[in-house]
Amino acid sequence: MNALMIYYSFEGNTDYVASKFKEYLDIDTERLTVMNEPPKKGLGKFLHGGKSALRKEDPRMNALQADVRAYDTILIAFPVWAGTCPPAIDMCLKTYPFKDKNVYIIATSASGNAKKAMINVTEMMAGNLIVDTLSLTSPLKNKEKTDAQIQEFCQKITGRL
Ligand SMILES: Cc1cc2nc3c(=O)[nH]c(=O)nc-3n(C[C@H](O)[C@H](O)[C@H](O)COP(=O)(O)O)c2cc1C
Repeated sequence: MNALMIYYSFEGNTDYVASKFKEYLDIDTERLTVMNEPPKKGLGKFLHGGKSALRKEDPRMNALQADVRAYDTILIAFPVWAGTCPPAIDMCLKTYPFKDKNVYIIATSASGNAKKAMINVTEMMAGNLIVDTLSLTSPLKNKEKTDAQIQEFCQKITGRL
């Protein structure tokens, strides 16, 4: 499948999800890497991370290796931060804007509520066709359920080809 998944993962959940998509769809994946991430532990994690997401702070990021122009389909996957997407996703969509792609948006969160994040990311990708969205709850804690949800979602994707 001529598809690229661009994703950000701070604590491994979205990385796990990306590995499952790669397994089921044989797509290319690229993890966004940020140089100034929040601390990994303690309250600072949520304070710094949440604030950076709400303020839409520009993170210092390594360049995307993949050429987005080479793909018909783009999958964007990310953890929900303070109800929206993390700055890495904002920054990536600003730096590498694309048009006329089939787009799938995949969010992971602790609460299962990714509605606002989905709306924000959809707005950032105006000019593309948002084909479908998937919201996953704490994938690493619910691997069996997550795998089944991803498998079902991937079957829908391949069914459309
Ligand atoms: C800074 C920060 C803010 C978060 N904000 C939310 C939130 O608003 N709603 C929610 O359901 N989960 C929130 N979470 C939990 C993550 O969305 C969830 O654990 C996600 O699956 C983590 O993905 P990752 O392991 O790929 O980073 C937050 C986590 C962090 C670190």
